[in-house]
Amino acid sequence: MPYINENFIKIPAAYLFSEVARRVSQYASENPGADIMRMGIGDVTLPLPDVCVDAMMKAADEQRKVETFRGYGPEQGYDFLRKAIVENDFASLGIEADEVFVSDGAKSDTGNIGDIFSGSNKVAITDPSYPVYVDTNAMGGRAGEFVNGCWTDLVYLTCNESNQFIPDLPEEKVDIVYLCYPNNPTGTTLTKDQLASWVGYAQENRAIILFDAAYEAFITEEDVPHSIYEIAGAKEVAIEFRSYSKTAGFTGTRCGYTVIPKSVKASSESGERVSLNKLWHRRQTTKFNGVSYVVQRAAEATYSPEGRRQVDELVRYYMENARVIREALQSIGLSVVGGVNAPYVWAKTPDGMSSWDYFDFLLKKKNIVCTPGVGFGASGEGFVRFSAFGDKDRIAEATRRMLS
Ligand code: MLT
Repeated sequence: MPYINENFIKIPAAYLFSEVARRVSQYASENPGADIMRMGIGDVTLPLPDVCVDAMMKAADEQRKVETFRGYGPEQGYDFLRKAIVENDFASLGIEADEVFVSDGAKSDTGNIGDIFSGSNKVAITDPSYPVYVDTNAMGGRAGEFVNGCWTDLVYLTCNESNQFIPDLPEEKVDIVYLCYPNNPTGTTLTKDQLASWVGYAQENRAIILFDAAYEAFITEEDVPHSIYEIAGAKEVAIEFRSYSKTAGFTGTRCGYTVIPKSVKASSESGERVSLNKLWHRRQTTKFNGVSYVVQRAAEATYSPEGRRQVDELVRYYMENARVIREALQSIGLSVVGGVNAPYVWAKTPDGMSSWDYFDFLLKKKNIVCTPGVGFGASGEGFVRFSAFGDKDRIAEATRRMLS
């Protein structure tokens, strides 16, 4: 008789964004005339930059000629893209092309990275956090039991008003730390000094930092690191995840990458220090067959001067939405963070309402969809997240409704 991975029945039945989508579609089917403003999941609405579409069409055309047709590509990405990434995103940070692994996005990589770590590692995750980190550690058996909304074996790094949503270093020794900055869901950032203290913690405790930098392109302020490798010593202790989803509109096209410097090592049971780059390479060559050539050419196109200009324009558009949302929420008296270096605005619910109650109020009374903060972790209770990915006129209409 086949047995299931029991961990799957311990996790909450639905993934956060699927549950939000289910509730919204139920409401929409019961209220067919409702004009619903969707500010829940961070899904882009502007089309792909022209440079990307042109590059895809050219690459697609190559597929019809025997001389230029491509079959299986390298699992870790074509050299042209890995080189473009290193030259453009990591110039002067000392990252090499064979330390970059191209993938179908940061969700897959942050979810799959657990494959190369032992189930016995002590894992620390900021709370609230992008649900993939917690859910995949639970699936992998590193989280323990789910009791009263928390996992018994995870170390939660609480981010709330009392610490300005900046996590304190763990009091106990942990092996793996997930950090996402600019942060999803709170939109907050770490300064270079704050991030350096995490690198210092990892060095002292021989921990690994899994640094999700999917939103780095949205940083507008100085002294906010775009990459963890800007911090001295990070190349020995950190893995970084990046994505084209939000910056270049690739949520449906799918492309991202993970940087694993060859100097990042963890121990085997026999005490040998093993390169994580080597393990991830082994994992990817076995379980992944690479991102399509056509899509990798589109990603490469974002680095041309015209590509950069078009990507910047997308980022600016969404950040203007973020400003509008932030100001509207402030003017109705809500306490907010985020929206300055990130496309998410994190707001405290009014009158002590729970996250789901305020979600229901906004959906049913204002026809606005947000994401309940508690869905990102227990410390998110009493907050909701608004996504700035949307049409600016629709966002303006949503803010008018909030103010009315
Ligand atoms: C979010 O809304 O947090 C993200 O769009 C979800 C994702 O990137 O998977």
